[in-house]
Amino acid sequence: MALKIALWLLVVLASLHSTSSLGSDRHLKEIVLGRCWDFQRQKVYAVNAKNCSQLWETFSKAFAYKDPCATNFSDYEPFFDEVGMDIVKMNKSLFWSGTYKEAHMYSDFDFRLTTLEDTMAGWMMNNLTWCGSQNKSSDGINYTSCPSCDDWPFWGLASKRFAEKANGIVRVLVNGSRSINGTPAAYSKKSFFGRLELPNLNKSKVIKLLILVVHNIGGPVLEVCGNGSIKEMENDAKKRGIQTTCHDNPAEIQHLLCADFPNSRECQFLASGARNATKSVSCGYWKLAAIVTISIAGILLLAAIIGLINVKTRKKKDPLFNYSHGIEE
Ligand SMILES: *[C@@H]1O[C@H](CO)[C@@H](O)[C@H](O)[C@H]1NC(C)=O
Ligand SMILES: *[C@@H]1O[C@H](CO)[C@@H](O)[C@H](O)[C@H]1NC(C)=O
Ligand SMILES: *[C@@H]1O[C@H](CO)[C@@H](O)[C@H](O)[C@H]1NC(C)=O
Ligand SMILES: *[C@@H]1O[C@H](CO)[C@@H](O)[C@H](O)[C@H]1NC(C)=O
Ligand SMILES: *[C@@H]1O[C@H](CO)[C@@H](O)[C@H](O)[C@H]1NC(C)=O
Ligand SMILES: *[C@@H]1O[C@H](CO)[C@@H](O)[C@H](O)[C@H]1NC(C)=O
Ligand SMILES: *[C@@H]1O[C@H](CO)[C@@H](O)[C@H](O)[C@H]1NC(C)=O
Ligand SMILES: *[C@@H]1O[C@H](CO)[C@@H](O)[C@H](O)[C@H]1NC(C)=O
Ligand SMILES: *[C@@H]1O[C@H](CO)[C@@H](O)[C@H](O)[C@H]1NC(C)=O
Ligand SMILES: *[C@@H]1O[C@H](CO)[C@@H](O)[C@H](O)[C@H]1NC(C)=O
Repeated sequence: MALKIALWLLVVLASLHSTSSLGSDRHLKEIVLGRCWDFQRQKVYAVNAKNCSQLWETFSKAFAYKDPCATNFSDYEPFFDEVGMDIVKMNKSLFWSGTYKEAHMYSDFDFRLTTLEDTMAGWMMNNLTWCGSQNKSSDGINYTSCPSCDDWPFWGLASKRFAEKANGIVRVLVNGSRSINGTPAAYSKKSFFGRLELPNLNKSKVIKLLILVVHNIGGPVLEVCGNGSIKEMENDAKKRGIQTTCHDNPAEIQHLLCADFPNSRECQFLASGARNATKSVSCGYWKLAAIVTISIAGILLLAAIIGLINVKTRKKKDPLFNYSHGIEE
């Protein structure tokens, strides 16, 4: 049994390793160009027009024909200068750490809030792999293998620029159920948020950092507002002159999580709320329906009686009645 588990682990680890050493995505250029035009199509009112062919050239210059692990922030500066961060609006920035899925469900591609992956640069490159090839007679991109380097300059610079742009009320969504190497780590100084985002928030523009802590449905609850690494984050923000407020499992996010686990203990508030609401709504509805029906029936009956009396009296007095009645019909 133990041997089986060990073998299975080996297979899993081997497959993980082979995925991480895949080369650049096939058709990288076409994907980037397509996403670039599509982003502008969808967000036409939120961003200034950009030339996507030009953007691709600036982007590929950053890494093409270079040693994959030798690129740094300076290489990607021209790309970020060109693409900009137009879409980031006051009070809408959402940072995340360990909550990729929830943060993007919550931000809803900039309709609610804006994550880095909802900006033009982030959306174009999200979940893509690329690296240079030093083969002079190729297109300068290695499609067979990309090494895992210590640094990730594209996403590093993207995070820094995104943080610098944040303005007004700023939010960060962290995972109070996360642990790294057995240590609870809702906040990690080694994460993008800890290394590049929190340190680059501009205190003269940021009114407040709202810390939103979510837990896995079903636990564990390793850290909450005011304890563990979350306390550390609050202190790091205060040291930089940024005020914080912290919320555990805020309702607007809990409801999104509950879409996948409506019957769990944590989501029982939905069931009890819905039952009460349905009861009172349906009770009120039927009462109202009955009153309206009875009233209408009463009015119709009255109208019929009056009409009958009228017809009888008018028929006698007015010879033109049949004609006008015909027109009314
Ligand atoms: C867009 O950029 C490409 C490449 O630099 C250039 O050839 C083209 O003329 C530009 N198009 C416009 C409309 O500026
Ligand atoms: C990036 O690398 C280039 C050489 O490849 C170097 O000249 C430059 O100073 C480096 N920039 C940073 C920010 O490290
Ligand atoms: C951002 O939030 C602050 C504080 O609540 C408020 O005064 C300001 O009007 C908001 N700005 C926008 C653009 O919503
Ligand atoms: C990233 O892309 C891979 C396929 O290349 C896909 O299986 C995976 O679901 C994607 N992940 C996200 C977070 O979009
Ligand atoms: C791609 O990278 C791998 C590993 O670094 C290297 O062995 C291979 O020659 C490279 N291929 C090209 C086309 O540069
Ligand atoms: C360099 O790229 C060319 C064109 O893709 C290819 O024919 C050649 O085999 C590559 N050379 C090496 C050393 O990978
Ligand atoms: C929290 O992090 C763990 C990994 O440590 C992950 O499995 C889980 O999905 C995350 N929970 C949320 C709510 O993002
Ligand atoms: C912070 O924001 C102020 C006001 O917009 C600006 O003048 C300043 O240059 C910014 N500081 C940094 C380090 O970006
Ligand atoms: C933080 O609070 C939670 C919930 O009260 C508790 O389970 C956990 O042990 C606390 N962690 C630390 C480091 O104090
Ligand atoms: C629903 O009713 C239950 C008891 O009948 C009560 O405890 C609960 O607070 C109610 N929920 C709402 C949202 O009114």
